Amino acid sequence: MKITFYGQNSLAIAVGDTNIIVDPFITGNDLAKDKVDIMTLKADYILLTHAHQDHILDAEAIAKNTGAVIVSNYEIAMHYQEKGFEVHPMNHGGSWDFDFGNVKYVNAIHTSSFPDGSYGGQPGGFVIQANQKNIYIAGDTALTMDMKLIPLRTKLDLAILPIGDNFTMGIDDAIIASDFVACNKVLGVHYDTFGFIKIDHEVAKQKFSEAKKDLLLLAIGESIDL
Ligand code: NI
Ligand code: MN
Repeated sequence: MKITFYGQNSLAIAVGDTNIIVDPFITGNDLAKDKVDIMTLKADYILLTHAHQDHILDAEAIAKNTGAVIVSNYEIAMHYQEKGFEVHPMNHGGSWDFDFGNVKYVNAIHTSSFPDGSYGGQPGGFVIQANQKNIYIAGDTALTMDMKLIPLRTKLDLAILPIGDNFTMGIDDAIIASDFVACNKVLGVHYDTFGFIKIDHEVAKQKFSEAKKDLLLLAIGESIDL
């Protein structure tokens, strides 16, 4: 599994020949828009955690360009199905065996309106099990006890957690979240994109290392292999 960071909660996940894009927000992100051309992104699936602008902005353009299937909660899936896109609707606690692996839509504490204010269902995260690797994409969320449910079923290799505070967990809660999901390897996301969520990288890494955990902060376009 190869994971590439494109800013905010935007990720590309390659599992063998299958390409998955998560929460594409690139053309609206000053940190990413000159570094990533969304028309070059490959996608068989686009996973959307919730309907906020900073998670869905480029989903339609990428789906149009690639024919990717949009996977999200029922309301978001229906929103895109009505527009003619191929979708796979899910809801909390449900999992599905896709051709690349298993995806479970899990709880998040947040909100989920579309940019025009229309209802975007309830927000979520994803647990992906593919090629003997297991990852958790928390999406935008507060620290929640529901995270403790994940390790009951899945031994994670990587937890992708928001760390920018204000709209989601900050660093201190993300460290606790890492305990809740029983995974000490954390990829930090949802920081620095705009003023409310700017963080000090060194302080963040220091706090994780004091808790005997690894915080990975990738540059835009940088990848890790699991
Ligand atoms: Ni959000
Ligand atoms: Mn967000």
